Amino acid sequence: MAVWRFITRILPLVLFVGAVDKGNFKTCDQSSFCRRLRNISIDNSKYVLDLEALKVYDNVVEAQLKNTEADVTFKFSLQALAGDTFRMQVDEIQPLHPRYKVEVALEKDPEPKKIELLDRNNEQVSIKAGNNKVILKSNPFKAEFYENDQIAAIVNSRGLFQIEHLREKPAEGTEVEGQDPGAWEENFKSHQDSKPRGPEAVGVDITFPGALRAYGIPEHADKFALRTTGKGGLEPYRLYNLDVFEYELDSTMAIYGSVPVLYGHGPEHTIGVFWLNSAETWVDINNSKDANVVSSLVNLMSGTKTESRVDVHFMSESGIVDLFILMGPTFGDAIRQYATLTGVAPLPQYNTLGYHQCRWNYNDEEDVKMVIENMDIHDFPVDYIWLDIEYTDGKKYFTWDPIRFPHPLEMQANLTKTGRRLITIIDPHIKRESGYFVHEEALANGYYIKNKDGNVYEGWCWPGSSSYMDVFNPVVQDYFADLYSFERFKGSSDALYIWNDMNEPSVFNGPEITMPKDLLHYGGWEHRHLHNIHSLYTNLITYNGLMKRTPNKRPFTLTRAHFAGTQRYAAIWTGDNAAEWSHLVASIPMCLSEAVAGISFCGADIGGFFHNPDQELLLRWYQAAAWLPFVRAHAHIDTKRREPYLYSEDVQRRIRSALRQRYAHIPLWYTLFWEHSITGDPVIRPLVYHYPKDVNVVDIESQLLIGNSVMARPVTESQATNVNIYFPGGPTEIWYDIEDYRAFTGQGNVNLPVSLDKVPVFYKGGSIIPRKDRPRRASTLMHDDPFTIYVALDSNKSATGTLYVDDYETFGYKNKEFLYIRFDYKDNTLTSTFINKDASYPTKEWIERVVIIGAPKTIKHAKLVSKGLGTVKLETSYINDDKALVIRKPAVSLRETFTISLV
Ligand code: NOJ
Repeated sequence: MAVWRFITRILPLVLFVGAVDKGNFKTCDQSSFCRRLRNISIDNSKYVLDLEALKVYDNVVEAQLKNTEADVTFKFSLQALAGDTFRMQVDEIQPLHPRYKVEVALEKDPEPKKIELLDRNNEQVSIKAGNNKVILKSNPFKAEFYENDQIAAIVNSRGLFQIEHLREKPAEGTEVEGQDPGAWEENFKSHQDSKPRGPEAVGVDITFPGALRAYGIPEHADKFALRTTGKGGLEPYRLYNLDVFEYELDSTMAIYGSVPVLYGHGPEHTIGVFWLNSAETWVDINNSKDANVVSSLVNLMSGTKTESRVDVHFMSESGIVDLFILMGPTFGDAIRQYATLTGVAPLPQYNTLGYHQCRWNYNDEEDVKMVIENMDIHDFPVDYIWLDIEYTDGKKYFTWDPIRFPHPLEMQANLTKTGRRLITIIDPHIKRESGYFVHEEALANGYYIKNKDGNVYEGWCWPGSSSYMDVFNPVVQDYFADLYSFERFKGSSDALYIWNDMNEPSVFNGPEITMPKDLLHYGGWEHRHLHNIHSLYTNLITYNGLMKRTPNKRPFTLTRAHFAGTQRYAAIWTGDNAAEWSHLVASIPMCLSEAVAGISFCGADIGGFFHNPDQELLLRWYQAAAWLPFVRAHAHIDTKRREPYLYSEDVQRRIRSALRQRYAHIPLWYTLFWEHSITGDPVIRPLVYHYPKDVNVVDIESQLLIGNSVMARPVTESQATNVNIYFPGGPTEIWYDIEDYRAFTGQGNVNLPVSLDKVPVFYKGGSIIPRKDRPRRASTLMHDDPFTIYVALDSNKSATGTLYVDDYETFGYKNKEFLYIRFDYKDNTLTSTFINKDASYPTKEWIERVVIIGAPKTIKHAKLVSKGLGTVKLETSYINDDKALVIRKPAVSLRETFTISLV
């Protein structure tokens, strides 16, 4: 064990040269199916859609698609779905073996929509659903998607469509002309993949005419705007959940998560494609206008049609062709269409939006106690403390180290007393140790994943020799979920939540540090078919386990690996980053890519997981992290301790202020999470989401929007004395600095001086932002605290915003126990109304202050009118050189509506 620890943890750090060992991971060229699909020649498609036999039903078009070269016919269908979405499926008519169809990623069966036949002849068939039209062309097969009569996406535009039919293995020694050498067996390093079913790859190319950029397909440590890949250039973006030690930035390599949705974006519209496939996938991208956004702008201004386009090519090892086209037309529409398919994040507990203090590891109960005490002494808010793998008894999950954590229940009770909660890690590998109840039960009941020969698979992970629960088996799912019960997970209480790590799954001695593809799962499926949804099942199990354990508390799980649909069960973080400025920079585009792919609840390890950040980097990391949805500090076991109270007074003061800004804005984050859970709107957004016609924003990833009202431009550069900020929105848009209320009016670049105290964050004129400004040591202690309502006026002197409140932790909201309030400000009057008139909640919260940023300079006082308080005169005063007006103590309860007028 000591040797293993040395090899896996110490040695790499000693030898650290700052780069991943790329040799552990395949290139496209080292993967037979990627090679095969990438070698298809352009504009030479062999696929023909048989239009004669094509049938148009109420919601679906059915036809046969023939590969004329292989002489194989497939079934083709195109469904119209509610919410301006189409689904195209191609499968074999009578496959030799069933082909895997992913179900778990979809929240429910998509709702169909009416199709109308517009026209048909020998060459093409046109149909319509809502405002969208599709033209299916026969020879070669093509599907053109029109949004309001404008061409938006073309499937098989370049003729790269492919579905390899399953076939009998050629007799030993038979030469098959043109067959790739890896078609029936493949080796990588010392690993052999037996590939008993042979070639079964699927691929499709899609063109987005008029698009300038494509976004999405996380997870990659790369730019937000997808870059051009191609033979001789960048490797395609790879989607294959992998545990990549010291992952590299600006790379298309696969890392922990795979979400196969992307959006082609241009000034006219944003169209999404969701490639529903759980096998290993590679995606080539070609941006026709890489360096030349300006010429498109010229096109746009001069009214000529832009020639720009983005071409993408999805390639997967197996499965069927299952492609959703999300017709937008706005970025928001396309994301909501995607959310309609794969679901949204359920409303989290309020405290999960606070600060999380983690490290590998807090050593023992005393350590946990001291950390919390020190956070209190030094006045840092914190809601959760985390325990990494060392809390267990010898890496046996659902147990506690008897020496270091002998009183887990008492420890949790003590945390709860100060308003804090605990999170412990549960990994999917199970230690093969006799006497360990989980192992014995799994072995006795046949719950483990099997080798290709049918024996239990053994791999190597933290505990040493391990086996892995077959999470695809419904019986195992129930069994595993039950392990989270208080009876099974002894020493756990309702103050404990879960961290699912290593669930790619990570296998230290496996091919590419994961499972061999020919392992066997429930139902006889090989691992190759399911690899990318393994983690989704681990999260579903944890979610169900926590729901069963404490049915009226909203569960919280953090997961490393993820797929489409993960948002329904867990939050994510960007894995093992490093204490480098470049990794701080990357945290923003990485989380933005997740947010547009449906996973808003995202953060990065504050400070960087590997190595030791200097004070400045750590500080800047806290300041940036406060503006991402999930805020957790975490560090590798071999790094120096770095709890915020260990730093100089100056650094502490600045970190404290960053965390307080976060805590003050939790009501905004919470409201956004509520709105996300209703609409699917992402919580954080790239600028291009709200300013789609502004070509200057298509590559901006150092700035992000929180909802539509706040824009942050964290300082991610070392020793910065100024930063460049782009203010979008045109000449009348106003952005107010949230600290001094300075107004930035009009579109354009501004170079802003920054000190170490400064985090450039702005409220958009026209927004109303609810805050809780009283500092506390945990968000759970803020439940009854009063609000300050910040009203940031636009150029018409009006503003609007929302606020959602409830009990902050239970499912009471499902019984309409909440208040969802809308604030409007116009004609010098602030008004509140209830959006859901049938909901109510007996909150003790009230409004202690209103700050009107950009208020007229002539106000004498204010007048509040409400049913409960009648008419009350309120005092006002100007602050920050008259840039804002403060209305003191309206003291009105959130339970009643009111108006406040300036006089
Ligand atoms: C890998 C995770 O990414 C990291 O956050 C964790 O500390 C280690 N596993 C140990 O559990």
